[in-house]
Amino acid sequence: MGKTITEKLLAESLVEGELIRGSRIGIKAHQTLGHDLNAVMTFLALESLGIDQVKTEVSVQYIDHNMLQADYKNADDHRFLREMTAKLGVICARPGSGICHQLHLEHFGIPGKTLIGGDSHTTAQGALAMFSVGVGGFDAAMAMAGEPLYITMPKIVNVRLTGQLQPQVSAKNIIFEVLRRLSVRGAVGKVLEYTGPGVDSLTVAERSTIANMGTETGATTSVFPSDQETRKWLRAYGREQDWQEISADADAVYDEQLEIDLTSLVPLIALPGSPDNVVPVTEVEGTKIDQVMLGSCTNTALNDILSIANILKGKEICGSVDVGLYPSTRTVIRESIKRGAYDDILATGVRFFEPSCGGCNGCGYAPQSKGVSIRTTPRNFHGRSGTKDDQVYLSGPEIAAASAITGVITDPRRLNVPEFTYELPEKFIEPGNLFYPNEKYAGPIHYGPNINPIPTFSEMPEQFTQKVLLKLPDNVTTDQICPAGALYLPIRSNIPKIAQHSFMLVDPEFPQRSKKEQGGILIAGENYGQGSSREQAAIIPRYLGISTVIAKGFARLHLANMVNWGLLPLQFLKEEDYQTLEPEDVLNIQTEDIQVDAPFKILNQTKGYSFLVNTPISKEELAVVRCGGRINELKQRIT
Ligand code: F3S
Repeated sequence: MGKTITEKLLAESLVEGELIRGSRIGIKAHQTLGHDLNAVMTFLALESLGIDQVKTEVSVQYIDHNMLQADYKNADDHRFLREMTAKLGVICARPGSGICHQLHLEHFGIPGKTLIGGDSHTTAQGALAMFSVGVGGFDAAMAMAGEPLYITMPKIVNVRLTGQLQPQVSAKNIIFEVLRRLSVRGAVGKVLEYTGPGVDSLTVAERSTIANMGTETGATTSVFPSDQETRKWLRAYGREQDWQEISADADAVYDEQLEIDLTSLVPLIALPGSPDNVVPVTEVEGTKIDQVMLGSCTNTALNDILSIANILKGKEICGSVDVGLYPSTRTVIRESIKRGAYDDILATGVRFFEPSCGGCNGCGYAPQSKGVSIRTTPRNFHGRSGTKDDQVYLSGPEIAAASAITGVITDPRRLNVPEFTYELPEKFIEPGNLFYPNEKYAGPIHYGPNINPIPTFSEMPEQFTQKVLLKLPDNVTTDQICPAGALYLPIRSNIPKIAQHSFMLVDPEFPQRSKKEQGGILIAGENYGQGSSREQAAIIPRYLGISTVIAKGFARLHLANMVNWGLLPLQFLKEEDYQTLEPEDVLNIQTEDIQVDAPFKILNQTKGYSFLVNTPISKEELAVVRCGGRINELKQRIT
């Protein structure tokens, strides 16, 4: 029987188990990546485990998320990362070199390798036929230490692309179409594997937009073949020697099929609140906007900037609209300057920022109160922009640029835009000095007053008798559990401080209530913990005394973070049990009753009845939770 691309890639990094769908497998990272938001915790974890040299082929640290230096906090984090990376043999990018996923695509991604990254959009490297998985900071630390990552062998969905994209309908619309069909939890436990003749017409940068945002479907990752386009990309960055051909066998067997005819796609837009609220742009044309954000890891590669310039050239942005552009990397900036595109865009009144995540995670460029913003970013969860009552639409660069001119949501096909063609350069400009010198550092590590030690947690007791402190709906995001935004990102390395803002977008009283009750239990709907990989979303409820989350379902990455930090995940078996439970109900959980392969009872002491739950984790993971988290478990194993 033939093999899929996914199976071929996994075979290269498999260290435990068999590639049987649904079984537990251990894979080893050839490469890792991290960024400044999550990596402080990563390096603190490595330090607490006594690791002094990474064990991967390549590990790269980027500084792109937390770039505002309003005081000492972010600058201290950057210094800590610079020193730690040099001590442990990790390559570290200078702040302002670019956004992690695009820089990795340019300089490090290699077809056939497995990448484990401390960011949910690590999946972008699937564009280079890598098996690339996003994890929390602790699992990233484990991967750097040479430990396997354990995942459930996913089902493999063949997304077969045929036809050709039409003018003003760029690659972002392909992933919007996937999201429209699958929703934000339609690919949980699956890999999206792209094949078909439509793939040939997509550049690696376009493929990365699709693979990046595949994570919004809940997919473990997305993969593309490594073909002549891949080879061209690597050649343009002076890395052709890293190329190898990788494709699915003709008789490869897939679990599911999805057919998308690119010719029939129209410009699509995601309505505020969720990236799967996708409709044709024509349905919301004419809606007045206040802001446009061009940028993020999905849409400011060179082809995106040139397409934006093609639309904006010779025009002016609308007087009532604020338009900002975050380029992806310094290479993209220099190439855009060389082609005159930067000047064309500057002349229209667009604000230019440094290459970084910036407004995407609310680290600057928040919209006004109730502001309507069109963004080319991958996510539009309410409040992520930094403005609680924001109205953020997601689109490709063409809709965003066209709307910047008119001041209302606009179908770019209505403007008289010159035909746009794009050719990958034979060789990209090498801006140089993107990374700190790769020299071993043996000096002192500076922590700064904002970097607190990792909290320690106790083992699971024999029973919990605790109140339900929050009842949450479906699709709660990690942004809602642990806020993004310029005010909160700098205190992510300070768990006692960031814990005071836990669930602030949902219930600002939650931290106080949790303290008063000395912890409790959370109830949630489907897909609890979707979105960003931030492990603080598991740590801070635990820090506030939350022992257990009982949900209808969990997002993969957050579930792994909960295990790592000893937060017990339980799953409802019946919808009515979720409906019946109310905040303030006191539940009793006998923890010795918990097994991985059989349901067990929880007593609702307040209402005098029991209901059945199970746990969605493996035997090994349950053992970790019983220890109080991964650090305790590792220390126990070592001693
Ligand atoms: Fe950064 Fe936003 Fe991408 S925070 S990594 S630009 S999703």
